Amino acid sequence: MKPFIVVLLMCLVLFSCKEEQKEPKQELVMYQSSEMAALMNAMYEGNMTIKNKILEGESIGNFPETYLNIHNAVLTDPADRNASFDAFSKLYIQNMQQVYSGSKDSLKQNFNQAINSCIACHKTTCTGSIPRIKKLLIK
Ligand code: HEC
Repeated sequence: MKPFIVVLLMCLVLFSCKEEQKEPKQELVMYQSSEMAALMNAMYEGNMTIKNKILEGESIGNFPETYLNIHNAVLTDPADRNASFDAFSKLYIQNMQQVYSGSKDSLKQNFNQAINSCIACHKTTCTGSIPRIKKLLIK
């Protein structure tokens, strides 16, 4: 199962790189606000809070159901919601749920894996936010 997902994602990445060349406006488009941009900013803030709680050894509570809106929030460019986006958002949600349901011992590792799935999707859609997202990773 796992190697299959990796191969699938690699194909999607290659596919979306080709797509990206046809869309030179993409970086500009990102600066407009959309439902998805608002959700992304909320996920950024939410995960910064969780990162600090993990570092402090505090309880992180429950999986925020609002994150599931990634499956239907309106994007600045609706064409961004393609097969690649859907695959990455499913993987991201799975990894995020694992943070809340997994064992305490693997909390830090699971959290970093979830953040890496933010980054994986961003490599295909919205590269400008990657340096900011990387700040969420726990060293
Ligand atoms: C499935 C793909 C995908 C995943 C997963 C994803 N993003 Fe995004 N992200 C996008 C897209 C596409 C945009 C542009 C949204 C728009 O403009 O409508 C975006 C935009 C953003 C922005 C900029 C918002 C703005 O104000 O323009 C930030 C910050 C961000 N994401 C952070 C995150 C964080 C943090 C995570 C993980 C917790 C994450 N993203 C997961 C695809 C993704």
